Amino acid sequence: MNKLKMALVGAGVIGHVHAVVLHENEKIDFAAIVDINKEAAVELAKEYGCRAYGSIEECIEKEEIDAFDICVTEDFHVEPTLAAIRAGKAVLLEKPIAKTGKEADEIALAAREHGTRIMIAHLLHFDSRYGVLLDTVKKGELGDVSSVYVKRCNTLSTCKRIGGKVSFMYYLGVHDIELMCAYAGGRPVRAYAQFPNKICGQYKDDDGIFAIVNFDNGAVGCFEIDWSYPETMPMPVWSYARVNGTKGSGTVEAGPQGLTIATEEAFSYPDTMLSPVYNGKMHGDMALQIDHFVDSIRNGTEFEVNMQTPIDAVKIIDACFESQKTGLPVDIVCEGE
Ligand SMILES: NC(=O)c1ccc[n+]([C@@H]2O[C@H](COP(=O)([O-])OP(=O)(O)OC[C@H]3O[C@@H](n4cnc5c(N)ncnc54)[C@H](O)[C@@H]3O)[C@@H](O)[C@H]2O)c1
Repeated sequence: MNKLKMALVGAGVIGHVHAVVLHENEKIDFAAIVDINKEAAVELAKEYGCRAYGSIEECIEKEEIDAFDICVTEDFHVEPTLAAIRAGKAVLLEKPIAKTGKEADEIALAAREHGTRIMIAHLLHFDSRYGVLLDTVKKGELGDVSSVYVKRCNTLSTCKRIGGKVSFMYYLGVHDIELMCAYAGGRPVRAYAQFPNKICGQYKDDDGIFAIVNFDNGAVGCFEIDWSYPETMPMPVWSYARVNGTKGSGTVEAGPQGLTIATEEAFSYPDTMLSPVYNGKMHGDMALQIDHFVDSIRNGTEFEVNMQTPIDAVKIIDACFESQKTGLPVDIVCEGE
């Protein structure tokens, strides 16, 4: 079978991680890197022997790309994604699908109209702990889901780096909010949120959020996202999920990842799930996610992540920000998809 010819759009922090996998995956012909900061594209392209472009339009015009891997800043997801969709190219788009429910609907509508395949990169679906729990729920082994609780707590380091530029809701929370929707199995209808703010104000954002979401199937979701933990915490992320149903309960405790390293400088729990590098290659959720995308495109099979839950997650975020303003629960309208 022919290799899938792919281009990376966005040579930033996560673009560098995607680039390793695009280069190492033998089913991919990693042809080009696009960034509006052309120098960033040129620098990264040098490492992987690809061509560099300053816009997706130029790349579409000059290359026969099969699929774009879009890793641009949250504020700018819509424009390059629509360009790829309208050119009939398959798309892997980093989370969140967009920054508002309206923009998310626009992307989904364009993909439907152009018959373009698009998967939102919700990585936790490829984390074996969260993935096994989701399969267990889908098989009905926990019965009718009554409640879902998810949390993600990061240290202040992420907030110090991007606070004021990107909300933690898009950078961190959307991972867990999307999975909460997948676990709950219904559509969100109402959200109420409180945002504590005593630590991160100096970095131009809130400390985190506590929120409650009602689903149309009667399930209740609750989530806690935070990026104000002290940097002395030995792991940068501490996350958790619990699903309670009429026949059982399942819990993910994703703190330490089974490996500890103690050196003269520090004690740490290194990443063994997301993108660990060993045996000369990148392994983990990122590699599995991109491999799944490629297989689904080449074989014409369903994506693991459908379009509904990524859109619903962004609509929940819209409602949480509205609830922050009003101090009241906010109704959510989810149609289609
Ligand atoms: N899955 C994960 O674990 C994970 C981790 C980090 C970031 N992300 C997501 O990845 C995306 C990128 O985040 P990041 O931290 O790498 O951002 P970043 O700011 O480090 O990099 C984004 C890059 O996109 C480029 N860019 C912006 N608009 C563009 C356009 N229209 N065309 C081409 N290039 C454009 C910028 O110049 C920049 O180089 C975000 O959606 C973020 O939420 C996911």
